[in-house]
Amino acid sequence: MSLLGRNALITGGASGIGRAIALRLARDGTDVAVLDRHVGGAQAVADEIARTGRRALAAEVDVADTASVARAVADVRATLGPIHVVVNSAGIADFAPLADLAEERWLRMLDVHLNGTYRVTRAAFADMVAAGWGRIVNVASAAALNGGGPGLAHYAAAKAGIIGFTRALAHELGPSGITVNAIAPGLVDTPLIHGAGAPAGLYDAAVARLPVRRIGQPRDIAAACAYLASEEGGFCTGQVLSPNGGAVM
Ligand SMILES: NC(=O)c1ccc[n+]([C@@H]2O[C@H](COP(=O)([O-])OP(=O)(O)OC[C@H]3O[C@@H](n4cnc5c(N)ncnc54)[C@H](O)[C@@H]3O)[C@@H](O)[C@H]2O)c1
Repeated sequence: MSLLGRNALITGGASGIGRAIALRLARDGTDVAVLDRHVGGAQAVADEIARTGRRALAAEVDVADTASVARAVADVRATLGPIHVVVNSAGIADFAPLADLAEERWLRMLDVHLNGTYRVTRAAFADMVAAGWGRIVNVASAAALNGGGPGLAHYAAAKAGIIGFTRALAHELGPSGITVNAIAPGLVDTPLIHGAGAPAGLYDAAVARLPVRRIGQPRDIAAACAYLASEEGGFCTGQVLSPNGGAVM
């Protein structure tokens, strides 16, 4: 996929899906800003990209904090120049049945995923309007499509919100040359799922039911993102692409 000469900003780029997307977009020709709460991890990814000859920057961001997002986006502009591609991948996992789903836990989930996606997109999109070209890719989840399972009401709601945000913005920004799409991954082998407090055996049972009989890898999701972010993906907007091994059809 071709992305030569563009600048991409990826949140959650220190780990898992965001990391794989950062590396893949760099391979496809973008310079890359790797944003994450864990700046050490983001720096390691940026260093890996820089060794391939592309410009890369690591910046610390908490997507749940508007001022932190503003600082990080300003950093990216000062170092790389205008932002043409935004990928919102920062995320957290948590299992809580409704009885345990205290308001604080609910709000935290929405704040990182849904509000974080809004904050970063809003801080960055003006460059794309000015360029008359842009790509916004929001990482949702297959849980937004099928509810995920017990204990995921806050997660599924946040991710479904991201899909609504994506589709509305696709209407709004399309005339400015900007596509806005969501990716709704199924189960992917990243640190997120291992630290989430999932019921024992849940993931093995889910993989055993999948038509493809394997868990997703971060590169599976990066390939979908590479298409949506590419020049060739320009006719695709307001869509939800769901690499999920057949979990949701
Ligand atoms: N792994 C899966 O099975 C799966 C499935 C569907 C969707 N997703 C989504 O994919 C995205 C990436 O998840 P992953 O599996 O790669 O997890 P991961 O834990 O490997 O990566 C998530 C990254 O987000 C960062 N992050 C978390 N909160 C942040 C904040 N407030 N500000 C900035 N950065 C923050 C973390 O530091 C981490 O580097 C998430 O949005 C997740 O919900 C994952």
